[in-house]
Amino acid sequence: MQHNVLILDFGSQYTQLIARRVRELNIFCEIFPFDKIPEDLSSYKAVILGGSPFSVRSEEALHPDLSQIRGKMPLLAVCYGAQYLAHFSGGEVAASNTREYGRANLSFIQENELFLEGVSPNSQVWMSHSDSIKQLPTNGVRIASTKDVENAAYKIEGETTYAIQFHPEVYHSTEGKQMLENFLVKIAEVPQNFTPKAFVEEIVAEMKEKIGTDKVVLGLSGGVDSTVAAVLLNKAIGNNLYCIFVNNGLLRKNEFQSVLDQYKGMGLNVKGVDASQRFYDALAGLDDPEAKRKAIGNAFIEVFDDEAHQLTDVKFLGQGTIYPDVIESVSATGGPSATIKSHHNVGGLPDFMKLKIVEPLRMLFKDEVRRVGATLGIDPELLGRHPFPGPGLAIRILGDITPEKVAILQEVDAIFINGLKEHNLYNSVWQAGAILLPVNSVGVMGDERTYEKVVALRAVESTDGMTADWVHLPYEFLMKTSNEIINKVKGVNRVVYDISSKPPATIEWE
Ligand code: XMP
Repeated sequence: MQHNVLILDFGSQYTQLIARRVRELNIFCEIFPFDKIPEDLSSYKAVILGGSPFSVRSEEALHPDLSQIRGKMPLLAVCYGAQYLAHFSGGEVAASNTREYGRANLSFIQENELFLEGVSPNSQVWMSHSDSIKQLPTNGVRIASTKDVENAAYKIEGETTYAIQFHPEVYHSTEGKQMLENFLVKIAEVPQNFTPKAFVEEIVAEMKEKIGTDKVVLGLSGGVDSTVAAVLLNKAIGNNLYCIFVNNGLLRKNEFQSVLDQYKGMGLNVKGVDASQRFYDALAGLDDPEAKRKAIGNAFIEVFDDEAHQLTDVKFLGQGTIYPDVIESVSATGGPSATIKSHHNVGGLPDFMKLKIVEPLRMLFKDEVRRVGATLGIDPELLGRHPFPGPGLAIRILGDITPEKVAILQEVDAIFINGLKEHNLYNSVWQAGAILLPVNSVGVMGDERTYEKVVALRAVESTDGMTADWVHLPYEFLMKTSNEIINKVKGVNRVVYDISSKPPATIEWE
C-alpha cells in the first residue's frame, strides 16, 4: 500500500477520526503510536500529530522523536501536538484560566494557506483542552485566535509546520475537513488517489505477489468483512482460496442455506459445514453467558480445524480483520493487544492457527470495506446487513440453549426483521433482533388460559456499537409485529420492546 500520510497517536479518542477524515479526502494515511515511528519515512508526504489525554506539563507527557520529521516534511500538530511543539521548543504551556471546551469561532491574524481556501471568517471550531499555549515556540507566528484562546493556531517560520489548538476532525469544526484538505493537498501536495477502485487493484496485486500459487483457507461468517475479504482473495488467487462456512445452529432462520447459495453465486470456492448438533452438544446445560461464548468459540475452532485438515498444503489463513482492530492492538496507551493467538499457548494451537496470516482489509475502516464491497459488485443487501454477534442466537436466548428454543426465536426474529424490511425501516436501524426471555407469562387465547414465553424486541441506532440509543419505531409497526408474532409463533404469548440505551444497558442482553 502506498504510504502517504503518517498520523502519530498520543492516545486521544479522536485519532481514528483524524484518519477517517483524511481518508474521506481520498488520501491514504496510517496511524502509528508516537513512539513507533517507522524508520524509513521516504514514502510519507506529511505528518499529523494528534491529541492526547495527557498534559505536556505532567510527568506522563509523551515525547515523540521528531528528529526525522520537523523541518524535513510538512507537519500539522493538533491539540496536544500543538502544545507539545510549543512547550518543548522555546514556548510555554500553562493551565487554562477559562474552560476551553466546546464551540468557538476563529479570527484570523494573518492570511495563511491553511485557512485560505473554503474557510469563512469566524469559522466555527471545536475546542477540548485544559492547557493553553501562553507563549509560542521559537519562530512561531500566531495565525488565528478565538475569544478565549489567543494562540488558537500558529505556524513556524522557515518550516512547513502548522499547529492548531482545536480539533479539525470533529463535525463541530464545520470547516475542519477543508483545513485538513488545505494542509494535505495545497501545502503538502499529497495525491488524492485512494479510491475503492485503486485499493482493489493494489491489494489484489499485493495478495497475488504474497500468496503466489499457495492455498489459503478462510472462514466465512455471512458478515460484511469476511465476505469482502473472500471476494478480494478470490480475485487474487481464484480457487486456491478455500472458504468454509459453518452452520453453528445459531444463525437466523434459513440463513445458512441462503447465504451459502449466495456465496456460490458469487463464484467463491466454498464448503458449507452443518455442525449444528456439535454446537448444541457443547452448549448443553450451560446458562452462563461467558461459558456459552467460550463453548461456542471452542466448538468453532474444533470444527474449523477438522475441515482445514482435510485440505492439503494450505499455507495461509485469510482473515477479515479491519483497521480499528489493528489500531486497537497497537494503541499508544496500550489498548488490548489480544489477538486470537494470545488466548492459547503456542504449543496447543490448532494447526490452522499456525498458518501465515493474510488480511486484505487490515488497512480499511468499516465504511471503506462497504465501499470496496460495492466496487466489487457484491449485493448491496449483503453489504447493508446489520451486525450479528459471532455466538449468534445463543446470547439472545437467556439461559440454556435447546434446539426448540432456537427454532422459536428464529421464527420471532424473522417476523421482526422481515417487517422492518417491508416497512422500509431496516436501513435506518443499526442493529435489530429478538430476545427469548427465561420467563413464562399468563395469557388468554379463546377461553383458554395460556402460560407461555415472553420475547423482547430490540432495535438500536449506533455508529460503532460502543454507544447506542433505542429506536423510536412507529407504534403501528410495533402493534402489527407483536400481533403477528403472538398469532404465528407457537409458545409465545407476550412481546415487549426494549427501551434501554447503551450505556448503561448493552445492546445484547447477555
Ligand atoms: P454489546 O451487547 O456489548 O454489543 O452492547 C456491542 C456489539 O457487539 C456485538 N456482540 C458480539 N459480537 N461476539 C461478537 O462477535 C460476541 O460475543 C458479542 N457480544 C456482543 C453486539 O451484537 C453488538 O453489535
